[in-house]
Amino acid sequence: MSKIKDIPKIDRPRERYLQKGADALSKSDLLAILLGSGIKGKNVRLVSENIIRKYGKKFLSITVDELMEIPGIGQTKALQITSAISLVKRFYEENEINETVVKNSQDVLTLTYDLRNMKKEHLVCLYLNARNVLLKKEIISIGIIDKTLLHPREIFYPAIELNAASVILIHNHPSGDSMPSDEDIKFVEKLTQAGEIMGIPVIDFVIISSKGDCSFYEKLERQNKGFDYVAEGVHDTLFDLLKIEKPTYGITTEKIQETYINIPQIKENYFQLQNRRYIGNKYKLIDWIFSILNKECKGKSFADIFAGTGVVAAVASKHFDEIILNDFLHSNYAVYKAFFDKGTWSQEKINGIIKNYNNINGEDLGDNYFSENFGGKYFSTNSAKIIGFIRENIEKNKSKLTEREYNMLISSLLYSVDKIANTVGHYDAYFKKEAVVDNFFMRPIDPIEVKEVSIFREDANELAKKIQTDIVYIDPPYNSRQYSRFYHVLETLTKWDKPKLHGVALKPESENMSDYCRVKAKDRLTELVNAIKAKYLVVSYNNTYDSKSNSSQNKIALEQIKNILNKRGETKIFEKDYRHFNAGNTDFNNHKEYLFVTHVDYE
Ligand SMILES: C[S@@+](CC[C@H](N)C(=O)[O-])C[C@H]1O[C@@H](n2cnc3c(N)ncnc32)[C@H](O)[C@@H]1O
Repeated sequence: MSKIKDIPKIDRPRERYLQKGADALSKSDLLAILLGSGIKGKNVRLVSENIIRKYGKKFLSITVDELMEIPGIGQTKALQITSAISLVKRFYEENEINETVVKNSQDVLTLTYDLRNMKKEHLVCLYLNARNVLLKKEIISIGIIDKTLLHPREIFYPAIELNAASVILIHNHPSGDSMPSDEDIKFVEKLTQAGEIMGIPVIDFVIISSKGDCSFYEKLERQNKGFDYVAEGVHDTLFDLLKIEKPTYGITTEKIQETYINIPQIKENYFQLQNRRYIGNKYKLIDWIFSILNKECKGKSFADIFAGTGVVAAVASKHFDEIILNDFLHSNYAVYKAFFDKGTWSQEKINGIIKNYNNINGEDLGDNYFSENFGGKYFSTNSAKIIGFIRENIEKNKSKLTEREYNMLISSLLYSVDKIANTVGHYDAYFKKEAVVDNFFMRPIDPIEVKEVSIFREDANELAKKIQTDIVYIDPPYNSRQYSRFYHVLETLTKWDKPKLHGVALKPESENMSDYCRVKAKDRLTELVNAIKAKYLVVSYNNTYDSKSNSSQNKIALEQIKNILNKRGETKIFEKDYRHFNAGNTDFNNHKEYLFVTHVDYE
């Protein structure tokens, strides 16, 4: 084995460090320096390489005991290494805590105090993250500023680079008068509109002078409410406060004469596909969507890749020969398998089983997983006992059921559960008052006849790479509300893996968290749209973007969708006024629903 002294001097870690600096060394070289040369008969570099390879990223949590298990490393060396790691971590932690939060215009003035006595005009921008932590302070221009010529790009380009959530602008008036000029006001309006379109709001515009200051934010709204930018959890922006006209996106939308579309047949005492509560479901928009589809798109196959309840695919199955349904939730997959799949089943058998289930009396049952967790909360204790008992029974009898029958029973249970849940329709919370009525009653589902169907439970972006259809309908979530968290009780009931549940809302460990609810949404949609092999792309969108509630704010702006789609082909946009789910948090009632139809250009 080669020894360290056999290595040419310049290749030795210490020598290289001294000549070229730390950046020229690999992780194992740096560790070799820390270990020194005290390992008998062993090349210290080899030992370091082995340690780095063995622990990888876990190296930062390595313990003294683990280090001492390595031949040649004693307590002193182990302590040297772990102390070095702790020292660095400590500095990093302090750095993180040392962040500058900009809560109000007073914080802005502290950060830009130097501008007060400047002889030249300055325009400075503060770039903030979603917690109002300062990411960067940047001088945009110095000297006489012709604000009519200054392009919003100069302010927003760095904001995009920094991934900033909002910006604050500061401008000094060397004259000493802090009153905004007409030019200042027009400039603020232009910028706030641009910020609104870009999804990077302007929070404040502050004028500084030697004799006083003027914060637009304070002047406009906050006189009686305190001066913080975030009040009562709501983040007001200058756009909201100025009450200026909504930006015109340069998009021409079209309206369509709606025709009545047939919804799947109604059979009494059976659940139809649409008989459930589901955020963002398009049931009430079906006539409008299909009036557009029938006019704009031609083809034989239709894919609903964020299918949710599946109502769009259900109507599509009456217009197209082949349909594809996909959603990454387990409960939705079971529902599609029950309603649409081709597998065999017996109505008599299903009805018989459900009839027996309806004869169960909760008071005769002991506690089970479902009642222990959800009884007295999402459901009355008795109902929860019955639901848990039925789910366990379906699982026990799985071998006596066809796959279709199994999914039909689970779906009947999911739909029946939704009817008595002590909630507003999702499972983010339950009403404080326990549901007193024990009226659990199970009804069978009424399946849908389709010609050809394929059902998937995949990430839509992955599926898009594999399928080829004439029309792809895209209806992703657009805000931060994760469907897997909202419908966790249905997920738990479907999977029946009885996970440990956490918090007041009794949620399991997270699974199926959508990138469409995160900052990555725009990149994911771009990737998806570019990957799809279809003649037409049909995208649903609504403008909850304008909402004041943070969780309802859209991750992608209308303009951005248009740009993404336009790259694949000529895009038409249809618009409809629509009242939207808002859980009572928003005061926004000008909801519009949009449908983009892109006729894909073939390369
Ligand atoms: C707006 S809802 C669709 C509503 C549906 N069009 C309807 O009418 O019921 C969005 C759906 O996308 C699903 N989803 C979110 N991210 C996904 C992803 N990355 N892959 C697959 N499904 C996803 C959610 O579970 C949710 O059911």
